[in-house]
Amino acid sequence: MTGDGGFGVYVHWPFCLSKCPYCDFNSHVRHQAIDEDRFVKAFTQEITSTAARVPGRDVTSIFLGGGTPSLMQPGTVGAILEAIGKHWQIADGTEVTLEANPTSVEATRFRGYRAAGVNRVSLGVQALDDASLKALGRLHTADEALAAVAIARKEFERYSFDLIYARPEQTTDAWSAELKRAIAEAAEHLSLYQLTIEADTPFSGLHAAGKLVIPDEAQARALYDVTQEICAAHGLPAYEISNHARLGAECRHNLVYWRGDEYAGIGPGAHGRLDIDGRRHATATERRPEAWLMRVESSGHGVVTDDELNSEERGDEYLLMGLRLREGIDPDRYKLLAGRSLDTARIENLRDEGAISIDADGRLRVTQEGFPVLDAVVADLAA
Ligand SMILES: C[S@@+](CC[C@H](N)C(=O)[O-])C[C@H]1O[C@@H](n2cnc3c(N)ncnc32)[C@H](O)[C@@H]1O
Ligand code: SF4
Repeated sequence: MTGDGGFGVYVHWPFCLSKCPYCDFNSHVRHQAIDEDRFVKAFTQEITSTAARVPGRDVTSIFLGGGTPSLMQPGTVGAILEAIGKHWQIADGTEVTLEANPTSVEATRFRGYRAAGVNRVSLGVQALDDASLKALGRLHTADEALAAVAIARKEFERYSFDLIYARPEQTTDAWSAELKRAIAEAAEHLSLYQLTIEADTPFSGLHAAGKLVIPDEAQARALYDVTQEICAAHGLPAYEISNHARLGAECRHNLVYWRGDEYAGIGPGAHGRLDIDGRRHATATERRPEAWLMRVESSGHGVVTDDELNSEERGDEYLLMGLRLREGIDPDRYKLLAGRSLDTARIENLRDEGAISIDADGRLRVTQEGFPVLDAVVADLAA
């Protein structure tokens, strides 16, 4: 049972040149060269074993994420895409995104990715001023980031970049100016994330010690509000809590996740949602890159958890993912997945509070006032 029948393939490249102090993604720094051929063989093996479980799918999107996938040789990317195409159907025009770090962007390399089949890049710009980039532990300057965006624009019809806001001491005026500058450089899509203090990162230690002060709730809210206003005024409204796009230019791969469609997770620490014999499986692979390699080499796949989701879990996941989207959720689909209806009294309360709205066709959406308290809205509806 999927949303509109999408099938995404996520491939995780788990290495970076350095570890950013705010980041808790499955990314690792290695001081010796990475054996990409060995990884290609293991990716190919895991694609083969996953395709044996979910054969015959039409791939609607592919996402090479990380870590820093732009550290891969174009030939490695080509071999991964070829392996995917061997086992599943990839239609012409299928969105194929590669995440890139401005530090590792060169025109020749980008051309190589394009020749390999990549047709969209997502760049981790993070900030457009050097002091903030330094504070975020990034290895690039604002000029280098803009040069990477220029290369992306030249080589790819579709590109996006990420910025992190609600940074220490960031004022709404400074962020508004930075965002407008970013929009002038953007094409059809921007990802704008509020800085989150993740557990067990250097930032969480500094934050706990009072050495890293991030905007309080009111300031974060003001920053969020100007983000929505400026982006909407420039034709880049939010289609998801942190993602903005021109109409029709949404990242199809991310929509697969948020609409509750099916996807395969390939590589270290990748998650998947597979529909097998009418049951939804939540899969996750071994996170540690070398341990993942050895596991794939010895047993043909790196999957370490494979749980069949029950109705309640399916319903909760649909709320958790779907309510992030501006298009919201369909209560009838929730009922089908969860085996029960949403509570009418709770819906009414949230509507009275202005946190959600209900469309004429019955879809339930979180309002702009509700998005800053999304977690509470989801928890209330799921109770
Ligand atoms: C896995 S990174 C991929 C891009 C690439 N590795 C890079 O950093 O250039 C995905 C995005 O998540 C965002 N991100 C990571 N950690 C974050 C945090 N603690 N708070 C807010 N955004 C974060 C960053 O904007 C980053 O570009
Ligand atoms: S480069 Fe990206 S994935 Fe790697 S540590 Fe930094 S934010 Fe995380």
